Amino acid sequence: MQDKIRRTFQDLFQSQPVIAFAPGRINLIGEHTDYQEGFVFPAAVGQGIYAAIGKNQANYCRLYSLDFEEEFTFSPDSISPKKGHWANYVMGMLSQLKQAGFIPQPFDMVIGGTIPVGAGLSSSAALSIAIGTAITSIFDYQVSKKSLVLYAQKSEHLYAGVNCGIMDPYASTFGKKAHALLLDCRSNSHREIPIDFGDFQLVLVNSKVKHSLADSAYNKRREACEKSVLLLKSEFPDINTLRDIALSDLEKVGKILPSVLFPKAKHVITENHRVIEASGLLHHGDLVSFGKLMNASHASLSDDFEVSCAELDFLANKAQKMEFVLGARMMGGGFGGCTLNLVKSDFLEEFKKQMKLSYQSAFGLEPEFIEVALSDGAMILAN
Ligand code: GLA
Repeated sequence: MQDKIRRTFQDLFQSQPVIAFAPGRINLIGEHTDYQEGFVFPAAVGQGIYAAIGKNQANYCRLYSLDFEEEFTFSPDSISPKKGHWANYVMGMLSQLKQAGFIPQPFDMVIGGTIPVGAGLSSSAALSIAIGTAITSIFDYQVSKKSLVLYAQKSEHLYAGVNCGIMDPYASTFGKKAHALLLDCRSNSHREIPIDFGDFQLVLVNSKVKHSLADSAYNKRREACEKSVLLLKSEFPDINTLRDIALSDLEKVGKILPSVLFPKAKHVITENHRVIEASGLLHHGDLVSFGKLMNASHASLSDDFEVSCAELDFLANKAQKMEFVLGARMMGGGFGGCTLNLVKSDFLEEFKKQMKLSYQSAFGLEPEFIEVALSDGAMILAN
């Protein structure tokens, strides 16, 4: 892909680009906790997005998307969102940089990648981070990695309309090979936890569905959590988010919140504790207990938080019953995308065969299997 991006850039713009790469991410556990200042446990993967960039002498920016096989030009002086357009990610990052005081200059850019879109590997955060890394590199803008993460999150809010948390751009930026990041979304800081899966490996099963309500449902879940916090303040005046509620207060919480809100709050409160427990277990190589937490996370996301769907429930439940699978759960925002599975490596082919057969006969869809390895975060690639 790197070669293809470089050749396309050279053909279109007759110059040598600088190439930035930003990876997609998986999340071992800790779903829908980031925007409640909770804990998450993501890692960057090998698949990602490339952005080739070069300065130009024109007074506009020229973009080309390999995925869409489409060009787009715009003036860096007048940036505004263009509903649903891929170029929003470039304009969004640029407008964040502009707000931070960096005067946008014209450039040429080619973008493309190896992350299946809609699979829940966070191609959009990887895209924003690749773009930000590319722009700050060629114009020598002094922007910290953490600021870039915050710009990517803000750009997604303003230009893509999803009020996402910080996990995805953070993991894409700070990922580390063979490690997962225990990320505290209150202080926006992390600990790198070394992870050895031994005879097991992580495999994603892409359901190949993305239900159309996904983005609006995501924003609604976020609002439900915020509403719960407001109601809980009567009894717990010092809380800022659901992160501040102890597991031992769950019963009390159940008495305060109405029945539409309580299960959602319960998910966030219990999931936060699962993250802390899981990071300890994985640090000590207890894969079996970690697998059980994966299964519990899925049940909580499906039954309490209600962000799963028939396809994801089917894939997770099927995998959980296999003796060579330690744990399986839906991953990411929900309503489609992938399940994350911890599978004994010797049985990988058997796993794929059985999953494919059963998913196809239940839903008439062929699942995609994506093997992932914990990898480094965003970087400028050597020529
Ligand atoms: C999406 C969002 C993240 C996070 C997850 C759910 O990936 O972008 O911020 O909220 O959903 O854990």
